[in-house]
Amino acid sequence: MPLETALSAVLAGLTVLLLYASVMIMKRQSRKYEHIPMVTPRIPLVGNATSLDMSCCHTVLTGWATTFGPIFRIKLFQEEILVLNNFDSVYEALVVKGSDFAGRPPMYRTLQAGRHRHSIVWQTYTDKLQFLRKEVLKSLKMYGGGCEQLQQRSDLEISHMLEHIGKCSGADFNPWHLIYEAVSNVMLRLTLGTHLDQSSPSFQAIKDINHLFNDTFGPGQAGLIDFLPWLGHLGYPKFRRRLQAALTLRDQFWQQQLQLLKEQDSSECIVQTILSLISDPKTDHMDITEATAKEVFTNLILAGTDTTASALTCLLLVFLHNPDVQDKIWAEIRTHVGESRLVSLADRANMPYMQAVLLELLRYISHVPLAVPHYTIRDTCVQGIHVPKDMTVYINLWSVHHHPADWDQPWTFLPERFLDQTGQLLPLSSPTRKRLLMFGAGRRVCLGEILAKNSLFLFAAALVQNFRFVSSAKDERSGQLPPVDPRTYEMGLVLHPRPFQLRAIPRH
Ligand code: HEM
Repeated sequence: MPLETALSAVLAGLTVLLLYASVMIMKRQSRKYEHIPMVTPRIPLVGNATSLDMSCCHTVLTGWATTFGPIFRIKLFQEEILVLNNFDSVYEALVVKGSDFAGRPPMYRTLQAGRHRHSIVWQTYTDKLQFLRKEVLKSLKMYGGGCEQLQQRSDLEISHMLEHIGKCSGADFNPWHLIYEAVSNVMLRLTLGTHLDQSSPSFQAIKDINHLFNDTFGPGQAGLIDFLPWLGHLGYPKFRRRLQAALTLRDQFWQQQLQLLKEQDSSECIVQTILSLISDPKTDHMDITEATAKEVFTNLILAGTDTTASALTCLLLVFLHNPDVQDKIWAEIRTHVGESRLVSLADRANMPYMQAVLLELLRYISHVPLAVPHYTIRDTCVQGIHVPKDMTVYINLWSVHHHPADWDQPWTFLPERFLDQTGQLLPLSSPTRKRLLMFGAGRRVCLGEILAKNSLFLFAAALVQNFRFVSSAKDERSGQLPPVDPRTYEMGLVLHPRPFQLRAIPRH
């Protein structure tokens, strides 16, 4: 046989062998998932990606749950992802089988600059993660005397915010900026022991970082790069540059603040706590470095500010659409607190309506609709369905909080659903409250749950105690007041209503 013919035959043989091996590997792979119902149709190579609008994943997935059932898998390019859409499956995964589902998937965006090794949000379930969570919780001091500290820090920022709102003298303004400034300053006091004025360049840097991270780390189109990392090099270099710009800006801000912190040396704050762990012998095996402090700071400032500021802005939008809600809160404040002092956390027990409004706000809006992606760290099962190790899991809190079988009129803002017939708040053990999972649950439950609940209460009460909010019927883009319905909100790191303006009429 001539050499050429022999070579061709060998090449053809190798190709067939390769094809066979690929088909076998794919078959074996897909067998791992065969017990989990899948969303169809799937397109070769892209799977369900073309039918999943990344800017509103949560609503598309919720729609699919009505067709494919509460537990299904989707395929985004080469990755199989489990999606849990009802309370029973989510509760089982997060609480009953908490440690099985406590990982975080490796993702292109979080692998940059070692974020997955140092951060809390993006680190998978390791000893270091558990240790960091404990240290941050201790440092946040959300119990007993710690609440008084939060109250003092919040009161300073709240007074500042009320003063600025007062200066608007009943004229139209966009509330987001003042709320954002106050909430981020509470977070800056807790994390760095500092306060930044809205007009300072450093505060502008915080806003730019938030904007860039919203753009590049939110679950929108930017998320495509996690599934197709080569896009960053070929078709999507602009996105890679933005990702890099976000990290660079964050690093510059961090270096500046770290320098100031080292010069003060006395400040009692979370970053200081993490820095002190670097030289602690008990953390020798954990690789705790300045990069850890930087990542934890980034997590807290972003997760803590955008969520709480967005919730308060939505609350004002709720007031504009439902004036009776703020009137009822005001009546409660007048009866139990009066007008001469700010509302304190100790007043909470006497304000069931206010508490019901905040619970309903968090249910209705479901600011973090798909939580943060989870990842199975061992073979496990949910609702009797086998789930293999190393599978990404989306927790659809949006669907859990709007399921018509669990919530009467899910798209209506109804605080009364959390009150009994005598107007008292339903106990935590009631079936209605148990179904609320706005902070997630179990091993990866939101680290700022108590802080967020306390801050929301203090800020919301102070706003209503001092002003009545009325609509100026102006949304910055269309000239109309935007809808309060969260199905119309835009997705960044969290859900945001479209920008709007209002008027604040002083109460006294
Ligand atoms: C309205 C306010 C807030 C809401 C609705 C919210 C919601 C959530 C949700 C749903 C998660 C994902 C849980 C999961 O993966 O299963 C989360 C994680 C997290 N949140 Fe919040 N959050 C809020 C405020 C805060 C605040 C004020 C902080 C600051 C301390 C914070 C820090 C974090 C951190 C560090 C994580 C990651 C925890 C981990 O991965 O182990 N959050 N949050």
